[in-house]
Amino acid sequence: MDRVNATTSAASADDPARADFAALRTPEGEQLLAALRDHDPAQELATATRLRRAHPARLVSAALGQARLRQRAAAKFGAEDAYRMYFTPNGVEQATRTSVAAHRAARFAALGVRSVADLCCGIGGDAIALARAGVRVLAVDRDPLTAEVARANADALGLAGLIEVRCADVAEIDASPYDAVFVDPARRGGRGRIFDPEAYSPPLSWATAAALKAPRAALKIAPGIPHEAIGPEAEAEWISDGGDVKEAVLWYGEGFAAGSFRATLLPSGAALTAPAPLPAPPVGPVGRYLYEPDGAVIRAHLVADVVARCGGRLVDETIAYVTADEPYASPYVSGYEITDRLPFNMKRLKALLREREVGVLTVKKRGSAVEPEELRRRMKLSGPNAATVFLTRVAGAPTMLIGHPLA
Ligand SMILES: C[S@@+](CC[C@H](N)C(=O)[O-])C[C@H]1O[C@@H](n2cnc3c(N)ncnc32)[C@H](O)[C@@H]1O
Repeated sequence: MDRVNATTSAASADDPARADFAALRTPEGEQLLAALRDHDPAQELATATRLRRAHPARLVSAALGQARLRQRAAAKFGAEDAYRMYFTPNGVEQATRTSVAAHRAARFAALGVRSVADLCCGIGGDAIALARAGVRVLAVDRDPLTAEVARANADALGLAGLIEVRCADVAEIDASPYDAVFVDPARRGGRGRIFDPEAYSPPLSWATAAALKAPRAALKIAPGIPHEAIGPEAEAEWISDGGDVKEAVLWYGEGFAAGSFRATLLPSGAALTAPAPLPAPPVGPVGRYLYEPDGAVIRAHLVADVVARCGGRLVDETIAYVTADEPYASPYVSGYEITDRLPFNMKRLKALLREREVGVLTVKKRGSAVEPEELRRRMKLSGPNAATVFLTRVAGAPTMLIGHPLA
């Protein structure tokens, strides 16, 4: 046994989770993981019983647990990577999905960043994307098992030459030799999600100070961060993937537009930027078309930009639905043609949907407390046609707008 492995085994002997992880990386553990590659989770009990005849029960449990995590991780990392990687429950939950991590790594790399101190690396979601963009990474996590998993992932993906994993508290790290710093604080504690940025680990104020000391930096933050909490030195970017807002990131240093807000839509990478804040957009009557801005555009407070581009107006000053009289195509909005407008009234909606023979109803809502499932149930839908209903407010009044998506 070499010195590194001897140290790992000694340290993990009194930590069952680390001992289990070490066992998974033995030939027997790897063989079990390979055998569980395509196993059906519904058959887990039968699989466990069968495997326990030939392998230690504890190792079988660890392998089944890891197989479950890999299945979950495939949504973030893609099956090809996920089934070569290792995870912890928290690690998979908190890891950055590949699409977003690759986008961020590409922004750093485009500015000539060649080395990054990844302070809070978790199981390595961001470190892997940075290394794949050709960036050398110091990946730091204070949790020993998480650091071991990050190291195993760098190995498994052939990136160990670019990723040095260190188990330490970020406060002990001298990041000055690196071109940039990346901080992704833990935003989950024992009681679930943490909303107060000063309760993050490390706190947002520590992360901001570390960012301001570095030539360039990025901080991953919750998409719901209040805009007032963002300092003028940062460029704030909200990123959606497939229409869902995934995260926000604050960028610091040369090459980033301090003080501006940006919405980036993946997978296309289409990006809208404006110096914040934009003047409030006009509000007016519902026109023939309704446009629903992408969530990243809404979070970045760039709806006014979309309103100006489509020559439209808001349906209500507090609601992010844009209306216009002309069709408008843009990656930043989903467009609908509106065929009917009703005051909020379930009976009238039901009658209208029956008359139109609507069997498939998409329910969208902003500014309404109605549950889409409950509404669909009450409509007793039947018929060959599809429609979309928007439950919202128009000039303050609860309203239903019915239409269909633009091609
Ligand atoms: C949100 S996760 C990082 C996820 C990572 N970016 C990824 O994509 O896989 C935050 C990590 O920070 C670590 N952490 C929290 N406080 C820390 C500290 N003071 N020093 C080092 N690591 C810390 C936690 O153990 C956790 O693994």
